[in-house]
Amino acid sequence: MIHKKIESYFKEHYTDSPTLIKAPGRINLIGEHTDYNEGLVLPASIEKGIYFAISGNDQHTIQIETFLTQPEKITFQLNGDHEKFESFWGNYFQAIIEILVAKEYPLKGMDCVFGGDIPIGSGLSSSAALCCGFIYAITKISGKEISREDIALIAQEAEHKIGLNCGLMDQYAVLFGKKGNAFFLDCKDLSHSYIPINLEGYSWVLINSNIKHNLAVDSEYNKRRVSCENIVKQVQKYKPEVTSLRDVTLEDLVTVKSNVKEIDVQRAKYVIEENDRVRKMMEVLTEGDANAVGKVLKEGHWAMSTQYEITTKELDALVQIGESLDGVLGSRMMGGGFGGCTINLIKTDKLEESIKSILTQYKEQTEIDAEYYHLAIDDGVKVFE
Ligand code: GLA
Repeated sequence: MIHKKIESYFKEHYTDSPTLIKAPGRINLIGEHTDYNEGLVLPASIEKGIYFAISGNDQHTIQIETFLTQPEKITFQLNGDHEKFESFWGNYFQAIIEILVAKEYPLKGMDCVFGGDIPIGSGLSSSAALCCGFIYAITKISGKEISREDIALIAQEAEHKIGLNCGLMDQYAVLFGKKGNAFFLDCKDLSHSYIPINLEGYSWVLINSNIKHNLAVDSEYNKRRVSCENIVKQVQKYKPEVTSLRDVTLEDLVTVKSNVKEIDVQRAKYVIEENDRVRKMMEVLTEGDANAVGKVLKEGHWAMSTQYEITTKELDALVQIGESLDGVLGSRMMGGGFGGCTINLIKTDKLEESIKSILTQYKEQTEIDAEYYHLAIDDGVKVFE
């Protein structure tokens, strides 16, 4: 168990009684690239996570260490100064400390060892887990705890500083997730509710295409956001009250069509229809209609592939293979895109054979070994007992 290793490493190198915090990764059932358009999303926090063993120190430094993939230790001063570091993860901590310093948050010294089992660059939001977990940890140690809503905003600001103009879905899912439930979030007013996703006789499985993305470095994600903003600007010319695609209709797209690039219209149409798919998914999940759930998954995937253009040929292959199998009701790519995992709804009595067929056919078509993970929905960020 990864958390045991982290805890015992901490005890050996730092103090005897660390607090252990877990920040989960997240999946998303439907609602992709809708969050930054004030739209609807349906994610959930998962069992895989990042664990932080932490304890206060009286050296007035924040020492952060990981010993898992590439072992490294970085020491930050309480004003944000630090020595040079190599690891990409250092950028996130640096950004967070800088934001907290700018807000005049009273930071205190902390020792921290972290590590986890969320595959990186796989659409499971390892970076939101890293950021939200760390902010939760450092504010706990410093003695001035802040609300989960504020943690989400700081974590989002850190992502923006590093270069990904993301929405708030990942942070909210990581912070507010609840065991056994999907988390419905309206990104316009940030109201949320929970909905159980267990469909009797069916199982959820994640398949990792093993094509890794780095959304903060690949600007295709940000380009999608610009397309959406272009449309909003045009609609605002005659509907000044509109602030996001959430309030733009398909009729509006027809109206502005001649003033904008065709590709922007196509992307905005995707977002408007994706919000409808979230509403539909809520409905069919509540009814327990597994076939309809599978259908929404597939529709969502092909819309991302052909309209929003954020999938890869490998992800398309995974979904296509699923479509040819009896046991698979539906699947779709999850997250920002350009790599990562698909989420699959599979008949439990055909689970093993379906997974085996997907992995074998994927290998034949792409020469890549995919991996799979059974989905377990767990709680949001918390002290891990
Ligand atoms: C990434 C971003 C999120 C969201 C998804 C796509 O995970 O961090 O804010 O936009 O992509 O749905």
